[in-house]
Amino acid sequence: MARVTRALALLVLGLFALLAAPSFTALRAEAAPKKKEKAPWVGPKKGSWVKILRPESYWYQTRGQVVNVNQKAEVKYPVTVKFDRVNFSNVNTNGFALWEVIEAPAPGPGEV
Ligand SMILES: *[C@@H]1O[C@H](CO)[C@@H](O)[C@H](O)[C@H]1NC(C)=O
Repeated sequence: MARVTRALALLVLGLFALLAAPSFTALRAEAAPKKKEKAPWVGPKKGSWVKILRPESYWYQTRGQVVNVNQKAEVKYPVTVKFDRVNFSNVNTNGFALWEVIEAPAPGPGEV
């Protein structure tokens, strides 16, 4: 009889521990870093206008619109710019380094 009582006591204790203890998954969720913490945007905004400062570029000193800025630091030419004019290869986009572009005002109506 004593053995049965002991076993019962252990069972109750075990159940209590299961119910009262915070689940491990809950603890893990709290300890995990917050996902999708927004890092500040590097470079000009998408859709903004920039002037090209690279002298050897076909589009030197012309204005183009930012398509995207790759946010990975290891990308050499992260700023993708789209132009109204195509170069001799019939291409109208090019990648630039952050320091090869400067923010420019958007063209006025009818202006390029
Ligand atoms: C036109 O632009 C593209 C992208 O920058 C470049 O790869 C290509 O060499 C250019 N073509 C000429 C003729 O400059």
